[in-house]
Parts: sequence; C-alpha cells; structure tokens
Amino acid sequence: MLSELLLTEISRLQGQSALPLHRQLYEALRRAILEGKLEPQERLPSSRDLVQDLHMSRNTVVAALNQLGVEGYLVSRVGSGTFVSAKVPLRPQQSARTLSHPAQQLSGRGVRLSTKFCASELEIQPFTPGIADFSAFPVALWQRLQNKHWRMTYPEMLDYSSSGGYAPLRRAVADYLRVFRSVPLDVEQVIITSGTQESLALCAQLLADHGDTVWLEDPAYWGAGKAFMATGLTVHPVPVDDQGMAPQPHDSASPPRLIYATPSHQYPTGAVMSLARRHQLLTLANQHQAWVLEDDYDSEFRFSGPPIASLAGLDTQGRVLYLGSFSKVLYPGLKLGYMVVPKGLAAAFKRAHYDLNRPGQMPVQAALAEFIDMGHFAAALRKARQSYAQRRQSLLTALQPCLGAHASISGAEQGLHLCLRLPDTLDDRALAQRLGALGLTVRPLSAYCLKRHDMRGLIIGYGYAPLAEIKRFGALLAHTLQHALGALGPG
Ligand SMILES: Cc1ncc(COP(=O)(O)O)c(C=O)c1O
Repeated sequence: MLSELLLTEISRLQGQSALPLHRQLYEALRRAILEGKLEPQERLPSSRDLVQDLHMSRNTVVAALNQLGVEGYLVSRVGSGTFVSAKVPLRPQQSARTLSHPAQQLSGRGVRLSTKFCASELEIQPFTPGIADFSAFPVALWQRLQNKHWRMTYPEMLDYSSSGGYAPLRRAVADYLRVFRSVPLDVEQVIITSGTQESLALCAQLLADHGDTVWLEDPAYWGAGKAFMATGLTVHPVPVDDQGMAPQPHDSASPPRLIYATPSHQYPTGAVMSLARRHQLLTLANQHQAWVLEDDYDSEFRFSGPPIASLAGLDTQGRVLYLGSFSKVLYPGLKLGYMVVPKGLAAAFKRAHYDLNRPGQMPVQAALAEFIDMGHFAAALRKARQSYAQRRQSLLTALQPCLGAHASISGAEQGLHLCLRLPDTLDDRALAQRLGALGLTVRPLSAYCLKRHDMRGLIIGYGYAPLAEIKRFGALLAHTLQHALGALGPG
C-alpha cells in the first residue's frame, strides 16, 4: 500500500518537474509523513522491500531515506528498522488537518481512512472476488413480500427499533444458526445490524477504548481494518498460515482487547482454522480477557470437505461474538446482517446500537423474516449452492494446467473465491493489472497484506460470472497465467 501511494505521488511529481529519482522518492515520502498518511512512529518497510516494490535501485532508496533521516523525519533503530519520527516537524499548512487542496479539510484519521488499505475499485467482470450472482435473487417474490408488509405496517414499524431488530427475524436467525452453524444461543443474544461493517464498528466502539490493540489476520479483510482504524484501535497484524491465524508467543507482547478472525474460510487466503488453532485462540482470548470477533461471512457455501462448525460453538467462556451477513446469500444493498453477543452484553449492545445508529427498516426485516420462515431462503441457498458449485468446478478445471511447482490453490472448499498461490518472486500486482487489461478482474494477494511481504497470489472469484463465461474466460485466464509462470523457468 505504501509503495502504491509513493508511486502515485512520484508519477505526479514527474509530471511537474525533472527532479532526480532519489529526490522524487524523498519528496513523496516527506509529503506522506507531513500529510499524516504515514503516522508518527510508524515502521517503514525495509530498504530491501522498498527496492523491490518500487523497482528502484538500492542507491536511490538509501539516498532518499538518509536525507529524511538527516532532516529528522525518520529515525533508525538498530536491529528493528526505520520509523517515522515521533516528533515530525509538521508545517501547519501541510498538516493532516489541512491538506494542500482547500476543499479537503480531512482529519488525520480521515486522510488515513481514505488512503490506506482501501477496497479496490469495484469493477464487476468475470472473476471479480466477493461478488455473488445477484441476478439469481427472486426479485418478484421479494417485491410481493415487501408490498405485503408495507400494506400491513403499523406506525410503530416505521419508528427506530430499540429491541435489537424485528423479533421474528431474530428468531429465524437464531434457529438457522443453532442448526447450521452449531452456535448455542438464546434469541435475546441476536441483534440485527445493517451488515458486518456495522457489527464490527459496534464491537470496536463498545468493547475497546481508543488505542487498545486489536489482533488482525495478516493478510486481512480491508473492511475490518477500516472499522478498527476508524475507532482509533491499534492494529497488530498476526500472520496467517495454512491453519488460519497463527499467534506466536511474541504476539502476546501486544496484548489484544479484540481478536478479529475468519476461522471458517480465512479472508482472503481461504485457510480453514484447525481445531488445535481454535482452542489456542480461545485460550489466548481468555488469558488476555479479549473478545474474539468471528466473521463467518461465507459459510453458507461449502462445497467439499467436512462441514466446519463455528468457533462460537466451541466457546465455553462467552468470549466470542459471532457476525453474519445477508450480503452474500441475498444481496449487499439489502444492508442487513446480524451478530450474536454473549448474554451479559446483549442489553448494553441493544441500547448503544439504538443511540449510535438509530436502527430501523422494520418492514424490510419483516419481509425477510417471512422469506426465511416460508422456506424461500433455504430454497435460494440450495439453488445458489448448486450454481456456484458448477462455476467453482469450471474454474478449477480451467486452472488445472497452471498448477505445479510455481502455483497451487488454497481455500477452494468454500465461499465464492479461491486463492491461487504464486511464488514470492512474482509481481502479483503487475499480473493482476495485466489480467485487468484483458477484462478479467482478480485481486493481488499482496494487496491484502498488512505487514508481511512474503505472500503473492491472486484472489479469483467465481460467484459473479455465469458458467458459460467462466468456461470462456477461464481459458484466457489460464493462458495468461501459464505465460507468466513459464517466464519463471522450471520450478
Ligand atoms: C470477510 C468479509 N466479511 C464480511 C462481509 C460482508 O460485509 P457486509 O455485511 O458489511 O456487507 C464480506 C463481504 O464481502 C467479507 O468479505
């Protein structure tokens, strides 16, 4: 992310003057510091990583870093790296509060929220990850249900909802979670929200204070990173391996107040958290008196392997908050999700949710409750599962010739995307760009990484495009990948 920011700034500078490259890099870094895009005491990537990410010579990078060190913008600590100085010489006219463009009166936090760890631009094309096939949604039926509930609506239904949501919808969600996700719960623990994003914000606002630490998977879901950034939490990245989030003893030196995890299907690598890891995470949460936020965003779509129960189902100490969403199964614009909070927190969460967010949309919640109760949700899910299973298989078949010494697939058992793992010598961003130019939107795995630099790959979605398109464009995808992998030589 830093390298993207620097390269954008450098290309702007190149349009304005003919400064030597080390001076352009110096200026780009200096501006990032002064504008708050790099925070005081933030650690910079190593010069080796900068050389690699920016495609510049070591001399260029070292000259720029040295100059910033001399001027007091950066400090080096032997053995631990280079950091932005705690006493950045901010110039009032260029501080984070007043950016160079007068219309942009953003706070420092506003600058960070709008520039760091951003969702990629939404281009909906074959293989765009995270997008379901909304064309399959039964619009006519939904419209009938909506009309019915609007006709029956009484004045209280138009008010804000203070009770955690429409009671029959909370009951329907509770029944679903008990049966299909093994979440032991009482309906009073279910709170309807406007989606996972709101659930995450509520958890951060109510369970942690400004500056508290949240452990975030590395690589991570940008939406979670943003929710925690917005609430002033300190993000501590915990690397993920093929068994999910893998906390090491040194991580406990940054004790968490919150732990965010996607144990059923790590986003984006797709790793399934092993049972041993689940127990380790719950033990750590207990030791640190931390809350675990389990984001179970796509468990409705499991295609192979044994069913995976929720982490909440293993929790005997009431430390897990379970978060779910209707965005993938129905459609994201519905803006409805749910959380299951421990019994002792339910009343406080409902009260604060009411005060902070003024939840409502009761007629829509009523229509959804009936949609579930009448079996339409289960039917939609069955149909979607069948269709996605075929698309997934078609993509796997297309990718087969690419697999081998240089490439492997992870996380294809569940959800609407898979991860094609690539060697760390391959520039996955450039490859994703090349595919984008061909009309295929995939995301580079490295773009989801917070601190680590050892993961390359492509996140490839199969939810959006119809089967025929996956077949047709799958061949183009595989051909381009084979070409890129061929250039690496024999493995
Ligand atoms: C990891 C993850 N969590 C949650 C969600 C759903 O979020 P929301 O309910 O805010 O739409 C998504 C959607 O793409 C996701 O990828």
